[in-house]
Amino acid sequence: MTDQENIKVAAPEKWMDGWDNIYKQMLDASDADLRELEVSRPVRQFAHALNVSEADLANHHILELASGDGSTACYLGHLGCKVEGVEALANAVTIANRRIRMLDLQDKVSVRLGDIDGWDLGIETYDSIVIIQSLQYLFDRTIPRLEEILAAIRPGGFFVYSGNILPHFVTEPPIRFITRSELISHLDGWTLHCFGGDESIIKPGDLRGYIWTVARKPK
Ligand SMILES: C[S@@+](CC[C@H](N)C(=O)[O-])C[C@H]1O[C@@H](n2cnc3c(N)ncnc32)[C@H](O)[C@@H]1O
Repeated sequence: MTDQENIKVAAPEKWMDGWDNIYKQMLDASDADLRELEVSRPVRQFAHALNVSEADLANHHILELASGDGSTACYLGHLGCKVEGVEALANAVTIANRRIRMLDLQDKVSVRLGDIDGWDLGIETYDSIVIIQSLQYLFDRTIPRLEEILAAIRPGGFFVYSGNILPHFVTEPPIRFITRSELISHLDGWTLHCFGGDESIIKPGDLRGYIWTVARKPK
């Protein structure tokens, strides 16, 4: 358990409890399990984009919004980047901090308890911003926050994104999916290092759509 308090966010408590249950189970994970850094496809594509763009990794400052169990932040820290994670669930932050210590990434990676919305991201503040499967839970703030995120990325930096689209089961409140055309229009002029989508059956009768991108802001 952790002595920090969860942050109250726009997503309903029931949904947050669902994620928290996963993180609670991870509190008992072995060191060996936590050393395994499973990351999603756009994050692996981002590593490739950093490589081919010959980014100065030691000075590449990444913000990861909704950093969950810290796998992505540690993976990027392991590449040499400086990563700052923000996550609303205390158990997730506890696990991420354990990973950071175990992988000896304290100089590279930090994670704090916080809301991904409701604070000023600034203009051209970060080299790259990563947000995986989370922006859609800001509902009426999803698109405005997307715009703030894009403005906060420096010229030549990357936006690393994954989110759901239809098909998806009906939720209450309705998830604010960022559609393929909305994403493409917001990234007008950016270089798309990858842009993809698929549909996955999570369990029988539960078919979900996904889109993702790694997009580079024009210099
Ligand atoms: C589907 S999980 C994705 C976690 C992580 N990005 C990943 O790829 O494994 C959604 C995450 O978003 C977090 N979350 C949802 N709304 C949030 C908010 N407003 N501020 C901070 N974290 C939030 C949840 O706690 C959860 O960790």
